Amino acid sequence: MSDDETLAGLLHAFVEVELRGALTLDDAYACKVKYLGKKGLLTELSRTLGSLAPEQRRARGQEINEAKAAAELAYEARCAALKAEAEARELGVFEDLTWIPPTPPGTLHPVTRTRRALERVFASMGFDVVDGPHVEWARYNFDDLNIGPDHPARDMADTFFVSPPAGSRWSPGDLVLRTHTSPVQVRTMLTRRPPIRIVALGTVFRRDDDATHSPMFHQIEGLCVDERVSMADLRATLYRFVSAFFERPLEVRFRPSFFPFVEPGAEFDMQCPFCGGKGCSVCKGSGWIELGGAGMVHPAVFEACGIDPERYTGWAFGFGIDRMAMLMHQIHDLRLLFEGDVRFLEQFPC
Ligand code: DAH
Repeated sequence: MSDDETLAGLLHAFVEVELRGALTLDDAYACKVKYLGKKGLLTELSRTLGSLAPEQRRARGQEINEAKAAAELAYEARCAALKAEAEARELGVFEDLTWIPPTPPGTLHPVTRTRRALERVFASMGFDVVDGPHVEWARYNFDDLNIGPDHPARDMADTFFVSPPAGSRWSPGDLVLRTHTSPVQVRTMLTRRPPIRIVALGTVFRRDDDATHSPMFHQIEGLCVDERVSMADLRATLYRFVSAFFERPLEVRFRPSFFPFVEPGAEFDMQCPFCGGKGCSVCKGSGWIELGGAGMVHPAVFEACGIDPERYTGWAFGFGIDRMAMLMHQIHDLRLLFEGDVRFLEQFPC
């Protein structure tokens, strides 16, 4: 290799390989020492000058000096670039001003999805989807549903009462955060005439808070009022609903129960959609999953809503949407649904 090639090669290696690879000022300085320091590779070349003839020595000396000057300049330039980069990082300025940080796509909450899926199924069965307010008249939430003044649900320990605005003509006890979606039955019957077929989905509130209860949760309410409506229609509707929702035929069974606004009243279960009724961990081996309450609309409720109980009959049902979401997505703790932890919610991409 000629001397020229050695010089050019060293300069190239210093600028293009070493300096480029230096990511900090310390790295760059270490490179400079390696090439331009007292024992540096470029400095070493000057020591060979003594062995040259005087006329060659001047020319060669000049070449080496020029190379060292060029190396020095490249070093200064690299340091300036590294400083600018560090400063930009500190200021949050990006070199590429067109760069848009990637935004993770949002997803629908599992409860919202379940709610929409329920609405779709009931709409396809001819039900109107209606809504009601969260702050509700105690009258609609309790009295008109045949829940008398002495009913335990009216206890301060179970219900969130809402203070009426100062100076208003309402008394404490007139307004509550609705404890169930059943008051939407009252609102509907006060404003529509039979035939009525509605579902109402939404948030409800109770003073409960543990692994299986949240002070805020979600329910769906169904109501059907017409002439000659029977418990058999209720059962057929629930059967059609669970089978459509879980996309397989699933039995529904009633167990006698009491709710003041229905007579007779029942709790209803569906055949476990995960094992088809054979028994599994989800249904705890029973083959059945408890869903909610239902029954024939109590004549006292019809009367409170101005509907003639001699002419019309009706049925109603209600159940929790959150439990349905937990079942569908195999979620084991109710609290996970309401903590808003993105790591949990990200697991449900749209
Ligand atoms: N509102 C009841 C609850 O929150 C559920 C319910 C039971 C709704 C029976 C109904 C029904 O419409 O007929 O526990």
